[in-house]
This record gives sequence, C-alpha cells and structure tokens, in this order.
Amino acid sequence: MLQHILIAVDGSPSSHHAANQGFGLARQTRAKVTLVFVLETPPVIPVGPLSGYVMTAPPRTEADLAKARAELHELARDAGVPVETRVELGAPADVLCELAERLGVDLLVVGARGLSAGSRWLLGSVSDRIVHHAPCPVMVVRERKR
Ligand SMILES: Nc1ncnc2c1ncn2[C@@H]1O[C@H](COP(=O)(O)OP(=O)(O)O)[C@@H](O)[C@H]1O
Ligand SMILES: [Mg+2]
Repeated sequence: MLQHILIAVDGSPSSHHAANQGFGLARQTRAKVTLVFVLETPPVIPVGPLSGYVMTAPPRTEADLAKARAELHELARDAGVPVETRVELGAPADVLCELAERLGVDLLVVGARGLSAGSRWLLGSVSDRIVHHAPCPVMVVRERKR
C-alpha cells in the first residue's frame, strides 16, 4: 500500500508534471506527500597539485533558498492532499536516495528530464542515478508526446 510518497522537483516543467502525477496518485491512495527541492552544493574538485580547486556549481544564496521554498509552496497549495515541503542541500540524486531511505517512503517520483532538457539523453543524470540506486520503488514520469 502507498502510505508515503516522496516527490522531487528542480524548477523544471518536467518535474512539475511529475509532481502533479504524484499528487494524483496520492489523492487516489490517500498517501501523504513529501515534496523536496535539492539545492545543489558545489562539489569541490581537485585539479592537480598546484592549481588548487575548481567549483563546478555556484555557491547557494538566501535568494536560491527563498526561490526553492516559494516553488514548493506554490505546488503544494494546489496538490489537493497534505504536503510537507523541504529544501535540502547536496548532490541531488544522493540526497534524494538518502531521504527516501530515512523517511521510509513507499515511492519516489521524479521527472524523466529536468533543467538541462536540451540533451540527447532520454533520462537526465539525476533520474538515471535514482533508477539505479533508490532504496524504494521509483516512478519516472515522462510527458506524453502529443
Ligand atoms: N536538484 C534537484 N532537486 C530535486 N529533484 C531533482 C533535482 N534535480 C533533478 N531532480 C529530479 O530529477 C528529474 C530529472 O532531472 P535530471 O536528471 O536532472 O534531468 P536533466 O539532466 O534534464 O536536468 C527532475 O524532473 C526532478 O524530478
Ligand atoms: Mg538536472
């Protein structure tokens, strides 16, 4: 039985579509929902003995946090089910898998693609990693072709 669904959003239309599918499932099953946005923190990569370190993502600001919270609240408002929202920091796929484990959710819902939708791959790197490493069932929502 579905009692608790974790839904991951990243600001992309694909993730909003996935969230709405997840909400629909929650309405039918009376599952509770946790909606999460992971603010990607810069991984620090060593690049040789003398050159120091390179950051591959910008550091996160209060404005990023406020924007993520606002997006979550807007989605939650129209969900039609009780939704708990949270913003986490870290590497998205790892954080999502850890959170799914920690909360003991029955299903993790993600979009097939996210913000870098221009690429030739069918699945984004986060959804790909989640399909391989999640500790629970996963629903990857691809938008229907019209
Ligand atoms: N930072 C994030 N926080 C929460 N969910 C995320 C994050 N990044 C990706 N996701 C989830 O994974 C799905 C696929 O995104 P991703 O694999 O990053 O694709 P892309 O490579 O197109 O950006 C998104 O629709 C969203 O559900
Ligand atoms: Mg992405």
